[in-house]
This record gives sequence, C-alpha cells and structure tokens, in this order.
Amino acid sequence: MASENIIEEKKQGQALITNEVEGNTKKLFIESYGCQMNLNDSEIVASILAKEGFNTTHLLEEADLVLVNTCSIREKAEQTIRKRLQKYNRVKRINPDMKIGVLGCMAERLKTKFLEEEKMVDLVVGPDAYRDLPNLVKEVESGKDAINVILSKEETYGDVTPVRLNSNGVSAFISITRGCDNMCTFCVVPFTRGRERSRDPQSILEEAQDLWEKGYKEITLLGQNVDSYLWYGGGLKKDFKNASEIAKVTATDFSKLLEIVALAVPKMRIRFATSNPQDMSVDVLHSMAKFDNICNYIHLPVQTGSTRMLERMNRQHTREEYIELVDNIKRIIPECAISQDMITGFCGETEEDHQDTLSLMEYVKYDFGFMFAYSERPGTLAAKKFEDDVPLETKKRRLSEIINLQQKLSLYNMERFVGKTVEILIEGDSKKSSEHWMGRNSQNAVAVFPKGVEKIGDLVMVQVEDCTSATLLGKRVA
Ligand code: SAH
Ligand code: F3S
Repeated sequence: MASENIIEEKKQGQALITNEVEGNTKKLFIESYGCQMNLNDSEIVASILAKEGFNTTHLLEEADLVLVNTCSIREKAEQTIRKRLQKYNRVKRINPDMKIGVLGCMAERLKTKFLEEEKMVDLVVGPDAYRDLPNLVKEVESGKDAINVILSKEETYGDVTPVRLNSNGVSAFISITRGCDNMCTFCVVPFTRGRERSRDPQSILEEAQDLWEKGYKEITLLGQNVDSYLWYGGGLKKDFKNASEIAKVTATDFSKLLEIVALAVPKMRIRFATSNPQDMSVDVLHSMAKFDNICNYIHLPVQTGSTRMLERMNRQHTREEYIELVDNIKRIIPECAISQDMITGFCGETEEDHQDTLSLMEYVKYDFGFMFAYSERPGTLAAKKFEDDVPLETKKRRLSEIINLQQKLSLYNMERFVGKTVEILIEGDSKKSSEHWMGRNSQNAVAVFPKGVEKIGDLVMVQVEDCTSATLLGKRVA
C-alpha cells in the first residue's frame, strides 16, 4: 500500500502530519483526549481505517467519519468530550451523511447509553475492539448504529503499525502493555481498559527499528503500569543480535525489555511511562544507569504522601517504601528527574494527611508534577465504599497549595542546570517565537534557544544561561 505522510503547516505554525494512502477517497477526522495511550490508540485506529479507504483530515467540515477517542478519568474530561460531540452534531446538520463515533474509555463506561439515550453518535467502540472497526463502519455506512465494547485479555494490536498523527517526526509512542490490574480505588481505568497484558517484545523491537529508519529520534514506551511488563517465551528472531542474547532467557521483564530496546536502537532516546512505585524494581534503575540512550527521567505517581491515604487508595506501598525507592533512584541514577501525580481531597483526607503530601514533595523535590482534585468516578471501589466527604473548597485550597509548592520545586530543579551545558533534542519551534527552537534534555526539561543552522530532530549542546520554573533558556555551543 503506497502511503505518504504529508506535513501541513497549520495556522499556529505547528507542523501536523496527516496520513494519505493513494486511492483512498474517504475522509476521517479523529481526535484524542486524555492520556498518551489514547493518542497512540488513535494512531492504531487510523492505521486500521487506512486499509478501509480512509485518509485523515484536520478539517471537521469535510469528514465522512468523525471519531473521538475519549477519557473518563475525571468528570471534567467527560464534560469536555460532551461539548465536542455537540459541536460535531452541529456540523452534521449541514452535512447529514457524516457519521460520528466515540472510541475509548467513555465508550466502554457508557456503552449503549450513547446510542439509546443521547442519540449523539452512530458508533461506539471500546479500546479492545478496534480490529472490528471495518465491520462496524460498514454497518454505520448502511444506516445502522454499531457498537462493540467487548474487552479482551489478549489484544495488544502488536501487529498493527500505527500511522503517526500530529507528530513532529521526532518523537513517537510505542505501547508495550494495555489495561491495568492494580485496582487503585479512585481509578476508572481497570474498568474501561480491562485486564493488563503485555505485548510481544519482537513486535516492540520491530516498531522501534522501523521508527528509527523513518527518522524518529525518540520513543516513549507506554503502558498504564510499564514496570509490570512481562512476556514469557523469550525467543527473539536472529536479526536483533545483541538483543536476542539477553532475551534468550524464558521471560522478559521490564528491565530486560528496556535493555533489548536500548541495544536494538542504540542512537534513539528511550523514555517510558508510567511507573507504578509498587512494581518498579531496582533492576530497572540499573538498566537505566547502564544505557546512555535511556533518558534519566521517571514519572512516578504517588497520589498522596500519607500512608493512611495510600492504603485507602489501595496503592500497595507505604510512604516509607516510596521514600526508599526514591533514595535508590537518587543513589543509582544521581542525575535522574522524578515527576509525580497527586490527588487532593480523596475520601477522608485530613489536614494532617495533606501536610504529609507537602512534606513528601519537599523530600523528593520533584522536577515536575500533575496535580488534580479528587473526582468521584461511578463504579469505582471508592465510589462504592467511601464517602466523597472533603468539601470542594478544601480540595481546591489543598490543590493550590501543592501546585504552588511544585512550582517552587520545579524552579529549584531548573536552576541547577543554569551555567551547565545540556544535550537537547530539537522538537520544533518554540511556542512563543519562530526564531527559537524548543527541545528537551534527558531529564525532560524544556529548553529554548535561538535558531542557527540546526534542524528539527538534531541533538545539540546548549549552554543554559537562565530559566523559569518551566523552561531553560540558553544558546547552542556545539
Ligand atoms: N497508571 C496510569 C494512571 C492513569 S490516570 C498512567 O499511566 O499514568 C493518571 C492520573 O490521573 C493518576 O495518576 C491520578 O493522579 C489521576 N486520577 C486518576 N483517577 C482520578 C480521580 N478519580 N480523580 C482525580 N484524579 C484522578
Ligand atoms: Fe489507575 Fe492505579 Fe492502574 S491509577 S491506571 S488503577 S495503577
């Protein structure tokens, strides 16, 4: 199949890639909300539909099929998507042949409700049913509604090569696990994305090599909980020489997977997300220390600094065990950046619990953070067992306290780079000026510097002269 990625200049100056296959006549508009896994899933969906005659478009008005990949993690995410569905339906009034579908977590959570009660969509497809899209789309094209929300214990889409959407041509995602078995009490993911399963390492390596050959310079291995990656059977094909030595063993865990990927694409930067503290092994830290091309950055959500709250959240580790892990990270990879996810105002959270969160943040000195007020999700264990009893005002006040502290910690960490020279992978124009490049260092800190003769995808050395809490400012020195 002749396929071409066309780079368009959007008004904002951001390069966007659409997928065009010769001979395809139908137009797919697809957008994603929520996590990086959703983005990657949309790329899998676009790949499956390219074989059914669809090219992607950025113009909603010209689409034959509009798909939205949805997120259920907090109530606000669902509200945003409902507004998008209203917008699509306004366009559909002008173009009645246009079909609308919901994919992903909201499709899984609300199932037939979208078709029966809300009548805003023609198609509902859960995260494990994308292979059925060719049949479902045919049903919809013949004027019927279509739904498939069956979850699978095996589906990994291992053999589907995603088409890269909205990509800068430099960084790409590779999914290595799907689903989650952890059952954190606040979280809807185990219900919407199903049981955890790992993808065949051979297909992961092939995807990484294919990306390298296409000019990509950085990959992020994705999963809800990458550290519990486990593949029985070893057995890589011969073409990954060094890598297959390591994988001769009968089982590949995450630290082995990291090593075989690092060997298979030795010049590629390798990142991964997300690490769950209870599953992160010291072996992974040693693998990171051993390979220069594995970036020094760990996203290590903790949610709260209080052991009492951790237990209520069913997080399977205490504050002390988390601190031990952080100490190990700092000992084994002294340059490593660490980021957090936090939830304020979970059921029963006291002022003392909140203080525990602040003091843990001070201890770890996180480089970045993603912080949220607790949002009760129907069907979760917390919704069934506990009362959502922290007043909204208190949740918000605690949230702003942790956000303020994180800003201080981020600034502290960024200041440590001032005066130093860092290696930056150029990702594109700086948001504020087309005369400056934007890129990241190994620790995932964003750097901005004046353009010279370099191009997107180059690795350059930048001397850091100044910073804000979010950006390093400097000049290229090599
Ligand atoms: N392991 C996953 C977590 C997905 S959810 C991963 O790959 O990142 C991302 C974050 O959303 C969680 O770490 C948590 O901080 C937050 N979150 C999840 N459920 C939430 C809820 N009910 N209310 C508020 N925040 C929530
Ligand atoms: Fe959710 Fe906990 Fe899994 S936050 S995605 S149940 S690790």
